[in-house]
Formats: sequence, C-alpha cells, structure tokens
Amino acid sequence: MTLARTAQEQKWLGEHGKKYSAGWVLEPRQLDELWMQRVTGGVSRTAIVKGMLEDIPRDALVLEVGCNVGNQLVLLRSLGFTRVWGLELIPEAAERARQRVGNRVTTGSALSMPFEDNGGFDVIMTCWCLSHIAPADIARAGSEIRRLARKYIFCTENYAPTENCTIKDYLWQRDHRKLWPDCKEIRHEIYPSAKPHPGAPSHQKGCTHAFLLEVPAKEAEKPASV
Ligand SMILES: C[S@@+](CC[C@H](N)C(=O)[O-])C[C@H]1O[C@@H](n2cnc3c(N)ncnc32)[C@H](O)[C@@H]1O
Repeated sequence: MTLARTAQEQKWLGEHGKKYSAGWVLEPRQLDELWMQRVTGGVSRTAIVKGMLEDIPRDALVLEVGCNVGNQLVLLRSLGFTRVWGLELIPEAAERARQRVGNRVTTGSALSMPFEDNGGFDVIMTCWCLSHIAPADIARAGSEIRRLARKYIFCTENYAPTENCTIKDYLWQRDHRKLWPDCKEIRHEIYPSAKPHPGAPSHQKGCTHAFLLEVPAKEAEKPASV
C-alpha cells in the first residue's frame, strides 16, 4: 500500500535531509566522540550497541530502520555482525550507505516497510529515527517493526516518560518501549545529557534511552508442546 508522505518524511526527503546526510558520514570513532560530547554525556555509541547486543549471535540478521548513510551499520560490522541490513527514506543517503556496506540497503519508509512478513529479521533496530516520527504516525511504525522483528527490537531514541515535542513538527521525546507492550524487556538504560538537543529550547535537557526487547515467538515458530 502506498501512503501519502507525512510532513516529517517530506522534510527528510527535501533540503534538510540532503544537508544532514552530506555531513553525517562518520566512522565509529568519530561517532563515539560526538555522542559522548553532545548526546549522552559520556557514553559512546559503541558502548551502547556493544552492551545492548552483547548476547546476540554475530550471524543474526539485523535491520536498521532509518540508517541514513550507514554509520551504525559500519559500527555493527566493526563489532563482528556479519548480516547487517538497512532501510532508509532518503535515496541518496541509502546509496551512500550501500557504497559503505554493500547492497544490503533498501530505500523505503518505516511506515510501510518493503519486506514480506515471512522471513523477517532477528533484530530490528532504530537510532534516533522513531523520535522523528510524529505522534499521529508512531503506532504505524511500531506495528511495522513488530511485523518484521523475529526475535529482538533494539532502539536508541529521544526519551521522556511522557510524550512531548522537542522541536516543533520535527522531534519528539517519548518512552518508545510503550510501542510494544507485549515484548519482554531485556535491557533498558537512560542517558541524561547535560546539553539540549541542537535546535531545542535551551531549558530542555536532552535525554536518550536505549533498550532491548524480546519479541514473543510467533505461533508457527513456537516449539510444539508435548
Ligand atoms: C537523525 S537521523 C539518524 C540516522 C542513523 N540512524 C544514525 O544513527 O546515524 C534519522 C534518519 O531517519 C530517517 N527517517 C526519518 N523518518 C523515516 C521514515 N519514516 N522511514 C525511514 N527512515 C526515516 C531519516 O531520513 C534519517 O536518515
């Protein structure tokens, strides 16, 4: 089904997305430094991903939704993950990601993912992608992720216990775990930042959370009871 583009998707597909993507090609070490300084107040992206995914087999099929130019995919590969896929809205960013990690990057929207139900991914992850999806659309993104996640959902997103808008029409804080109430929480960490998100009001401190949820086995995949 083809959906009309949301205002947020239009923004990412326009000049904003082009400018963002052009300045966002970072290797894991650069990404770590930037995050420690600006996002988490001292915790690197590598440390977050490593800690959250420490028990996940390195041959798990992993999909990052909203992968942009593939920074996180490169990071996953540096941690030994061998089957890493990306989905990205902006075609040029997806192409750049493809140049970095090979042909496993598809152009498309989190609101209607271009993958069949059967198959699915062992782990579906997001990093500051769901935070850019408006309250009116977030349940749809949640159900698309749930449709395709076979075992785990791993998100690193903009956090507040109660949903609120950080930047008008562009960025929201929420407890993203609430999108999947039937999944079991394995890990959850909150990283309060000393600084507001760039563009947010100066009184509003940034806050990131990361979590790993276990998806209940689908009926057909449950072992037969004896
Ligand atoms: C803040 S960037 C984060 C990029 C990347 N996840 C990272 O950690 O470096 C948000 C990304 O999500 C993408 N995005 C936003 N809405 C999307 C949607 N509905 N479907 C797919 N990607 C989306 C944007 O195009 C952008 O590349």
